[in-house]
Amino acid sequence: MRKFVLAGAFVGLGLLVACQPAAQKAEAPKAEKKKLSSKEKFKIALANQDKWQKACSNPTQLVPEGIDVETFKKEMLATVKFPEGGVVGKNIARGEKLFGDPKKGGKSRRGNCYACHCGDPKILACGNIGPSLRGYGKRGIDPKDTYIRIYNSWAVNPCSVMPRLGYHGVLKPEEIADIVAYMHDPNSPLNK
Ligand code: HEC
Repeated sequence: MRKFVLAGAFVGLGLLVACQPAAQKAEAPKAEKKKLSSKEKFKIALANQDKWQKACSNPTQLVPEGIDVETFKKEMLATVKFPEGGVVGKNIARGEKLFGDPKKGGKSRRGNCYACHCGDPKILACGNIGPSLRGYGKRGIDPKDTYIRIYNSWAVNPCSVMPRLGYHGVLKPEEIADIVAYMHDPNSPLNK
């Protein structure tokens, strides 16, 4: 029994060690003097993925055999319902609440984004299952794509662990639009 526990600890340690260099590699952009925008940094990190990272980032690995990945995405995209007022809502304050300050609790946490993402730098209790969303609005992403991602993440990344919040009715289209407004607003703490 004791041996088992020890063996488990070694495997765990091995995994940690094995994962570490890859994680560091992905984050370190090529040495450059001029200040790069988040979008440029992201592009460089993507271009410098080692072959294992590339293999694991390939969504076709995640989709069950026999399902074409483009068909999968197309069918997921077809489920997305858009709000009448457009994908960028007007109630930024509500968007911030729905994004979910964990301290506020209650219904305002329904997006619960901090469970998996960091965002507002003041909120230190944030998860790292998903990428950090700090500076998200400065990356030049089309708000419509943000909306789609939140409504049904599988339209973008099949089998992602990110919950399909609109698809499952956790968030209404208008609520997602307010989260989009919060994420893209230049004055949002995410983008400061
Ligand atoms: C259970 C964990 C989880 C929750 C909760 C979650 N996400 Fe995610 N999210 C992920 C993961 C994992 C990824 C990366 C994989 C992917 O592309 O789907 C991701 C990716 C994203 C991306 C793309 C990031 C990029 O760099 O392009 C956005 C935007 C995003 N999430 C927004 C949100 C918002 C807004 C919420 C809350 C309404 C939320 N997520 C809730 C796990 C989560």
